[in-house]
Amino acid sequence: MKLNLKIWRQDSFEAKGAMVNYPLDDVSEHMSFLEMMDLLNETLVQKGERVIEFDHDCREGICGQCGMMINGRAHGPLANTTTCQLHMRSFKDGDTIYIEPFRATAFPIIRDLKVDRKGFDHIIQAGGFITVSTGQPPEADSILISHKTAEAAFDAAACIGCGACVATCKNSSAALFTSAKISHLALLPQGKLEAADRVINMVDQMDAEGFGHCSNTEACEVECPQAISVLHIARMNYEYNKALLLK
Ligand code: FES
Repeated sequence: MKLNLKIWRQDSFEAKGAMVNYPLDDVSEHMSFLEMMDLLNETLVQKGERVIEFDHDCREGICGQCGMMINGRAHGPLANTTTCQLHMRSFKDGDTIYIEPFRATAFPIIRDLKVDRKGFDHIIQAGGFITVSTGQPPEADSILISHKTAEAAFDAAACIGCGACVATCKNSSAALFTSAKISHLALLPQGKLEAADRVINMVDQMDAEGFGHCSNTEACEVECPQAISVLHIARMNYEYNKALLLK
């Protein structure tokens, strides 16, 4: 198929960016979206032009590195799908596709479609872990966890940290990401000891990074490739208020 691609190009954070038009032929419907971008970059290399930079790693929907706004939607038109798992059969011959980076003040553009998401790393560093003594791993059955609790914690742990929630939210809030990481540990007995400090530190760090506040539009849940539920945001708020009361 033939496509008309309109792609955001920006040399650096300080540079002024612009949409640039790229017609592309011979796109197979079996290609993934990133393979289509590879094909475009090959044509740019042949012409001696700078390639379009974009993040990717696993290309299996696991790592959360890929992320683009495709026709105005994070990761494109399909629900619960990362950009790397989106295929060109979701588009039609002759389509015009608008491709932009995830936009948020807390995700500064590095170049073209690549953004700096280390704000997420800082939130995790503020408390998204459990402090344990080193040594032999404990016996697997030494802490009993109900199936229901394990499933709920796993649903939260499924967040791949791609940032689609931030890019989709009109406030650029990181509440879905942060709450998933807090929920995951707050639900499990291993996470309860440090729960109060964790939630306060992570929420404070989220604010310090420049992410906006959640105003409950729930757009984040709709665009999340892992279908992380906004119920985790409610749990984060509950845990945060409980921690403040207990302090
Ligand atoms: S490249 Fe890893 S999730 Fe898309």
